[in-house]
Amino acid sequence: MCGIVAYIGKNKAKDLLLDGLKSLEYRGYDSAGIAVLDDSKIELIKSAGKIAKLEQKIAELRSPALVADSASSEFNSMLAERLSKAFETSSCGIGHTRWATHGIASDGNAHPHQDLEADIALVHNGIIKNYLSLKHELEQDGIEFRTETDTEVIAHLFSRARQQTESDLDALRQVMAKVEGSYALAILVKDQQKIILAKNQSPLVIGIGDGEHFVASDSSTVLQYTNKVLKLKDLQVAEVTAGQVKLEDINGNESKIEVCHSVQNNSILEKGPYKHFLVKEINEQPAVTSLMLDQCLANPAKPISGFEQLDIDFSQINRIVFVACGSAYHAALIGKYLIELWAKVPVEVAIASEYASKQVLVGESDLVLGISQSGETADTLAAVTNAKQAGAKVMAITNKSDSAIYDLVSPNAYVTPAGIEVSVASTKAFTSQVLSLYFLAIKIAEDRLNADLTEVKQALRSLPLVIDQVIERAEQYQNQFLKYSNYRDFLFLSRGVNYPIALEGALKLKELSYIHATGYPSGEMKHGPIAILDQNVPVLSIAIDGPTKFEHGIYERSLSNAEEARARKSPSLVIACDDNNDLDGVFDEIIRIPNIDQLLSPIIATIPLQFLAYYIAEDLGKDVDQPRNLAKSVTVE
Ligand code: G6P
Repeated sequence: MCGIVAYIGKNKAKDLLLDGLKSLEYRGYDSAGIAVLDDSKIELIKSAGKIAKLEQKIAELRSPALVADSASSEFNSMLAERLSKAFETSSCGIGHTRWATHGIASDGNAHPHQDLEADIALVHNGIIKNYLSLKHELEQDGIEFRTETDTEVIAHLFSRARQQTESDLDALRQVMAKVEGSYALAILVKDQQKIILAKNQSPLVIGIGDGEHFVASDSSTVLQYTNKVLKLKDLQVAEVTAGQVKLEDINGNESKIEVCHSVQNNSILEKGPYKHFLVKEINEQPAVTSLMLDQCLANPAKPISGFEQLDIDFSQINRIVFVACGSAYHAALIGKYLIELWAKVPVEVAIASEYASKQVLVGESDLVLGISQSGETADTLAAVTNAKQAGAKVMAITNKSDSAIYDLVSPNAYVTPAGIEVSVASTKAFTSQVLSLYFLAIKIAEDRLNADLTEVKQALRSLPLVIDQVIERAEQYQNQFLKYSNYRDFLFLSRGVNYPIALEGALKLKELSYIHATGYPSGEMKHGPIAILDQNVPVLSIAIDGPTKFEHGIYERSLSNAEEARARKSPSLVIACDDNNDLDGVFDEIIRIPNIDQLLSPIIATIPLQFLAYYIAEDLGKDVDQPRNLAKSVTVE
């Protein structure tokens, strides 16, 4: 987690660093800081809270109010003036936006961190696993730590190593030999117009400009300024000046500089007419769905397309294992249902963090498929890597072609065209993952069994229209949901193909509104969750009927389970189709969706639940797009 940036060149570093940090805020937003090189010194400012707070703190350095307030303290006023001058003039600096792993979100724990002499300043993304033993060693040598972070050990180790070596890159390599864990590092050194970088298991890229260089955790940040991007590889180090990049490996050998030319992205993401990115992204779902259908299913009478790039013979695959986290895990559960139903291949679904470091019994007839919107989730990457090393075929579904998971499984990636998702809670990326799994299940069924799924394919083509119709009901949903803002616990229930949607609905509600919510298979309620039910715990059921022998009865059984909850006085809500007119009197709140076949209903049923979480969170005054403690891209295990 965390995002790092650095700049060296001819422009004002402060502005570029702050802009870069804003575009990386999806990686964490609990504190931020920047440091710049000013003549011979390093000047630094940091703050708990979002980047806007840091910006405000920097602006206040120049405000007459602060200078007047601090008239009694000449020191403060001089410091403010010195910092302000440095930020206005420096063209070399580093910056960081944090998602706390070690130590609370405070000014002190925010990056950049320095050594005792303030000779260097560094920003770090990743986790140093052996920091405690290193810290004890340094403390025994008399170093007093000023923060609770794992990062501070690197600052002290690097500073010491510099005293014993000629070159800073050699000093950095000495540190790398001692630390265990993941890191992307950007370091400023007093008196020297350069930025020093190192990378291991956390992303780091250099954007090559004309007499300037931009460094960031993510290429989309540097693509705002240049289309030439150099991606650092694990255990590489670099020394970057305004005009040059020196790249070396862990042994001190010069590494070849491989610059890729990407499409430059100057677009600024706007909310448009919407109050939040979340609701904008909910509203983009019909367009994304439509685009995907045009790409993969333009003609339902023909085999599915869009998977031509894959180097996988599905007729040779005997088992599929999905690995994923969060919403992507819920999408995977739907994928399992569909693939087993249509393609008759056994599928397992694993939480990526549980799969990452265990012994996995896989071979070349197993396909391990990671699903990850960002393509950077550390647990998912570790799980896919584990499977690859054990000999399985690997594949990914991701929303980013410029991502670590894409490179890891290349060419076996399907890229969802959902576009950038800004809001931390996933909406359009989730539904695009689910739709891609419909496509994949059909593809495998066609390849293995020569199955004719024309009817399903035709039905899928209706999805954008139905999603539109659901979105048109937003206001009606809002009136229904706002009655439930003040409950503290929720239970979400469903069965079969919609059970993962119960999990996803509960996840959305807790992510956005901080209300405790749990998803359960309806049939399992009586084995535990029923004990917590009373008038204070609403139960929301998803009850959609289905025509096939597999699905038939799911609706009726879901209703019986809802009745059981109601008998315990729980307020009862149901998501049901327009035509189900036997629900009045059974449920307190009937949330209607257009009539839809059960097998196709997960994508439709999830949308009112996105609105449920949104309206309740807004009503409670929560930060809808950046909920507390979360991050969009979780790059630590
Ligand atoms: C975080 C996000 C979730 C997301 C999960 C997996 O927890 O807040 O919305 O589902 O990571 O992310 P991925 O990028 O791997 O899909």
